[in-house]
Amino acid sequence: MKKLYHLCAALAFSCLIINVASAQEDVIDKKVDSVMAKMTLAEKIGQMNQYNGDWEATGPVTKDVGNKLDEIRQGRVGAVLNIMGTNHVKTFQDAAMQSRLKIPLLFGQDVIHGYRITFPIPLAEACSWDVDMIEKSERVAATEASASGINWTFSPMVDIARDPRWGRVMEGAGEDPYLGSLIAAARVRGFQGRGLGNTDAVMACAKHFAAYGAAIGGRDYNSVDMSLHTLWQYYLPPFKAAADAGVATFMNSFNDLNGTPATASIYLQREVLKRDWNFKGFVVSDWGSIGEMINHGYAKDNYEAAQQAVSAGNDMDMESRSYINNLEKLVKDQKVSFSLIDDAVARILRKKFEMGLFDDPYRFINPQREKSSLNLPASQDVARDMAHKSIVLLKNDKQLLPLSDNLKTVALIGPLVKAKKELKGFWSLDIDPNENIPSVMDALQKQHPQTQFLFSYGCNIDDQSKAGFADAVATAKKAGVVVMVMGEAPDMTGEAKSKSNIHLPGVQEELIKEIVATGKPVVVIMMAGRPMVFNWTADNVPSILYAWWLGSQGGNAIADVLYGAYNPSGKLPITFPRTEGQIPIYYNHLNTGRPASGDKDVFYKSAYIDLPNSPQYAFGHGLSYTTFQYIDDDTYYTKTTLKDNDVLNISFTLKNTGNYAGEETVQLYIRDMVSQPLRPVKELKDFKKVFLQPGESRRVTFSVNRDMLMFYDDNLKLITQPGDFQVMIGSASDDIRIKRAFELTN
Ligand code: GLC
Repeated sequence: MKKLYHLCAALAFSCLIINVASAQEDVIDKKVDSVMAKMTLAEKIGQMNQYNGDWEATGPVTKDVGNKLDEIRQGRVGAVLNIMGTNHVKTFQDAAMQSRLKIPLLFGQDVIHGYRITFPIPLAEACSWDVDMIEKSERVAATEASASGINWTFSPMVDIARDPRWGRVMEGAGEDPYLGSLIAAARVRGFQGRGLGNTDAVMACAKHFAAYGAAIGGRDYNSVDMSLHTLWQYYLPPFKAAADAGVATFMNSFNDLNGTPATASIYLQREVLKRDWNFKGFVVSDWGSIGEMINHGYAKDNYEAAQQAVSAGNDMDMESRSYINNLEKLVKDQKVSFSLIDDAVARILRKKFEMGLFDDPYRFINPQREKSSLNLPASQDVARDMAHKSIVLLKNDKQLLPLSDNLKTVALIGPLVKAKKELKGFWSLDIDPNENIPSVMDALQKQHPQTQFLFSYGCNIDDQSKAGFADAVATAKKAGVVVMVMGEAPDMTGEAKSKSNIHLPGVQEELIKEIVATGKPVVVIMMAGRPMVFNWTADNVPSILYAWWLGSQGGNAIADVLYGAYNPSGKLPITFPRTEGQIPIYYNHLNTGRPASGDKDVFYKSAYIDLPNSPQYAFGHGLSYTTFQYIDDDTYYTKTTLKDNDVLNISFTLKNTGNYAGEETVQLYIRDMVSQPLRPVKELKDFKKVFLQPGESRRVTFSVNRDMLMFYDDNLKLITQPGDFQVMIGSASDDIRIKRAFELTN
């Protein structure tokens, strides 16, 4: 009886919640209707128009533009971007308040990995596999940005990427749809916080819709050609996760998908996003992507491009001026219906009401709050912890790491030893020109004053000069250990930064060889926004840390890891190829009819005759200063068959068998052995982060249910198929420690 009572109470409560939410929606809808009833067609079109600010640009700038403030006063602008700081923002909002209907502006900004405090680049954060930490990181970013007048971030970028030649691989969460979906939702929660309408919440924006990361050749803005099955199985899930998490807006993408520019894709924007997913927010173009449909050859002029885009469900035009210059005529020519305009404007106004901007257009413009919210010590601590968790220990063959405090002299060699602002990477914002970012060398000297740190630059990042080699070798010979800090330049990844050659640039690997030849113990720290190729180093240097671009706290975090103040726990969210010729290479591939087994199995096999079959580093790879044993012989396994809504539990004991406390990310992969269509050799379906003291053991349990086994059939319907499955538990996709089989019976 008691149970029934609780059930009824829970049901009643959830009904109440749903009713309250829909009542609130009704109230806002009525407000939207009342504003729209007063608007002229020109004013409605103004809301669909977004201009870039006058100071920064994140795309090709449109020349000879008029006076934007006047246009805002005339009600011709609904949103702006790249305007930062309450004083700048106030100037533009004041102009909007002088318009006839005083409709407030939205202020958008690429807050991709931090606002005033720069966090690790998103691909680095993805190495943490710590969704709570990533949410916290975005919460700090949202708090700082919203205090500075920003109420809309063009983030999270949730594009699945399997090609490290693509410069924007740095901006996403790597190659896996499961991990990418969890991170997408976490970022949306972080940005939108307790909900739109709170002054520390900013609207998030899932981008770039869709499949932008699959550009042919890894060349930014290039065409994408893929089956709808691949699109749904691998590239759409993170967008769906963002939509399910309540993301306020979407941004479409520059690329064409199977011959249709995403900006004009009725399929993506109206059918998938607004119909199937019932998305109530609005869609903004990516920079001038509406106008770029002329370059694509899809529209003959801006008039046609505007018609195609608004018909396809693109609600707001960023920077191309196609809408503001053509929509009124398109309506008069009966090429575009009033209802299309009204739907777009209602979506935009609804968000402005939800953000509380009609109640108070200046609610995000509070100079005192701006002053008191930025660069807080507690926020810097979050950034440092996020940076710790983003570092991946690729190799530590002779346990050279962590370094000992007894070391008297350490040589620091390489072009990034003293890097400071570079640590912020691409898509970072220069809010404070006086920002002091400690370099790796600054941090080491501060943390270990008793150690003598020698420095030699060694070589440039990307030229052929070896003039610094001799000094570097001489410096190395004076030290007990050598720490080399190498990598790309921060602007070698990011937008429009695709590279055909992703080897460690310049003569850096030759410098590494010279230093290793001295016989001194060598640690190499790599900084980059993408997986690079550095095979000689991978084979010959005993300890390698991949430090990405870690942001404001990067130097401190690297120093912490080098000396063991933090035991690295990162795991790669993307495969590292042995060379460009191996791309695309990713872990969740199909088996083929001639699967190669092992690196040398090439005869009549799906393999290269001139390259081992395995990647340099696999998805999920990442070591620790300690070791973890997956004790298989006491694996407990509830059943070997799964039916209906069963749950299959599999548990085993994980033991820290080393000398350091540390965290292991235990990964669960599943393979569907026989299916139509084919399924990958393994797919990540769950993971657990387990922190253990030296010698400590813990039972780790995974639950497998039917939902984890669902996949899209040839008709794009989510199904399961009965049959045999394999469950694999391991420390990486190529380091499986426990395997079991089970059957799905119906
Ligand atoms: C850029 C990027 C997009 C960004 C937008 C505004 O071209 O593609 O990710 O949000 O323009 O800066």
